[in-house]
Amino acid sequence: MSIRRLPPELINRIAAGEVVERPASALKELIENSLDAGASQIAVRIAGGGLDLIEVADDGSGMTPDEMRLALERHATSKLPDEGIELVTSFGFRGEALPSIASVASLTLESRVRGADGWRIAIDHGAPAGEGPAALPPGTRAKVEQLFAKVPARRKFLRSPRSEYAACLDAVKRLAMARPDVAFSFEHDGRRILSLQPQGAPARVAALLSHELDRHGIGIDFARDDMGLTGVISLPTFNRGMADQQYLFVNERPVKDRLLVGALRAAYRDLIARDRHPIAALFLTVPLDSVDVNVHPAKTEVRFRDPQAVRGMIVGGLRHALDEESQRSAGREQVAAAVNWMSDLDRRPREDGGPGWAPAHSGEQMVAEARALFDHAPAARAEPAHAPVQDYPLGVARGQVAATYIVAEAEDGLVIVDQHAAHERLVLERMRAAREGGRPSSQALLEPQVVELDEVECDRLEGVLHELAGLGLEIERFGTSAMIVRAVPAALGKTDPASLLADLAAEVAELGGAIGLQDRLDLVQATIACHGSVRAGRILSVAEMNALLREMEATPRSGQCNHGRPTWVKLAHNDIEKLFGRR
Ligand SMILES: Nc1ncnc2c1ncn2[C@@H]1O[C@H](COP(=O)(O)OP(=O)(O)O)[C@@H](O)[C@H]1O
Ligand SMILES: [Mg+2]
Repeated sequence: MSIRRLPPELINRIAAGEVVERPASALKELIENSLDAGASQIAVRIAGGGLDLIEVADDGSGMTPDEMRLALERHATSKLPDEGIELVTSFGFRGEALPSIASVASLTLESRVRGADGWRIAIDHGAPAGEGPAALPPGTRAKVEQLFAKVPARRKFLRSPRSEYAACLDAVKRLAMARPDVAFSFEHDGRRILSLQPQGAPARVAALLSHELDRHGIGIDFARDDMGLTGVISLPTFNRGMADQQYLFVNERPVKDRLLVGALRAAYRDLIARDRHPIAALFLTVPLDSVDVNVHPAKTEVRFRDPQAVRGMIVGGLRHALDEESQRSAGREQVAAAVNWMSDLDRRPREDGGPGWAPAHSGEQMVAEARALFDHAPAARAEPAHAPVQDYPLGVARGQVAATYIVAEAEDGLVIVDQHAAHERLVLERMRAAREGGRPSSQALLEPQVVELDEVECDRLEGVLHELAGLGLEIERFGTSAMIVRAVPAALGKTDPASLLADLAAEVAELGGAIGLQDRLDLVQATIACHGSVRAGRILSVAEMNALLREMEATPRSGQCNHGRPTWVKLAHNDIEKLFGRR
């Protein structure tokens, strides 16, 4: 076996495998170079998903012909600070993007510094393909053609031009969000896709993700220790079926990090259904030496010195903002939300007991059941039909529809409440208040109940016995594959321990050890609350309905259920009149 040095063309090809995976990665490198060069305007054109053409033109510093030649050499960079790689603030610093791209495509670089003439250098798959004067305004224009034309192995792995285009668009979006102060334009196959003037971060995010964020977003501005967090997240009710609009920027660098996914999930824990996802663009500022940006050739990943602290700070900041927002909107009219809600066909249909009015029921047996069910609610008061509706923001109960919705009359309109969603929320908030007050009360079962589970599930629950006891749920291991339930949280009322334990075991499994105690308690609590709630389909008495309405008014965050759906909507008199064409 003989050892030999690899020729530079081959080294570049190998590096290209890491840096230039697909057209979008080449595009990303070129835009980053423009930003590093101090550009205030960047014009991007691509064709055929980037396979036929990628062109990036900027009005940045430009390069002299000598600098251009150097730039095309491997590991030549103008960006590494003398103090070392830890302090790098530019996007680039490895000096391998241009030579890598040039080794797997035909690259034409044109550049001009202010006060001098322009120059052009062409490289074709690693080989010089001529140079000479060029006419262009100050700045740089890089043009990549025939990408991977001579690298069939790579071409084979590319997807359709359509999805390569989508990846390019995503790359442009990420960088455009990272630098809202820079103007961007983006053209695909001659069609203008984006045209962005310099603007503030919130406006840029809204322009790129959804203009709806103006109305359905929450601004974030939070600091803890030496870290800062700004950006925008969507209201829990404004969510998506895919987690495809979640962006994280660390010190202005777009990064793809699993940490964001977990942090968002924890922050929205009991506000959004498990299969729905919020929209988020978050800008994290941390001390340069607390993050390593050199862990991935394309620099899309970072490594935090203390990921738990970062995660905790993001979850804390978002949670704070979400709580504040829900407090602000509690009791406020939700007509706009309701209308959006109703017109959003993207949502899954809700379980629904079918149409029809059910008379408010008040048989003796119902009252007894109600007592058992609402023993923690304020004493039920029956409101006579002429009760002063103006005293209550959520109005006075007038009836129940489909044994699922409470209809109430408020001073300014008609209120419809989803009884299960609302009650679930109240149970959760009750448990939370009890926990925060340090007095979670539990209700001993007359007869301890044995619940069979599989061994792994038992192990998992055994690992959190303490936390569960703190919530009022007292269980013990019973042999290899069963648990004994001795007491359940008092806030819960009647519940089926078997399905509760199975759900909890699944919850614990999903969370793993990756999440903090506080987050875990909250999630577990939400799962418990769901089990303790009035089901849709139960007929309620007027007294029960009013008790529910009064408790909702008194409870923070009761305007939406644990899955992010509204618990009630109001049709204002105005809206009703419009429906009947009276306005
Ligand atoms: N658009 C541009 N404007 C000015 N200089 C550029 C531009 N693109 C590249 N350069 C110069 O070429 C060098 C090499 O670029 P690159 O291969 O991307 O490596 P890196 O960005 O890691 O330094 C950069 O350090 C920079 O000096
Ligand atoms: Mg670069």
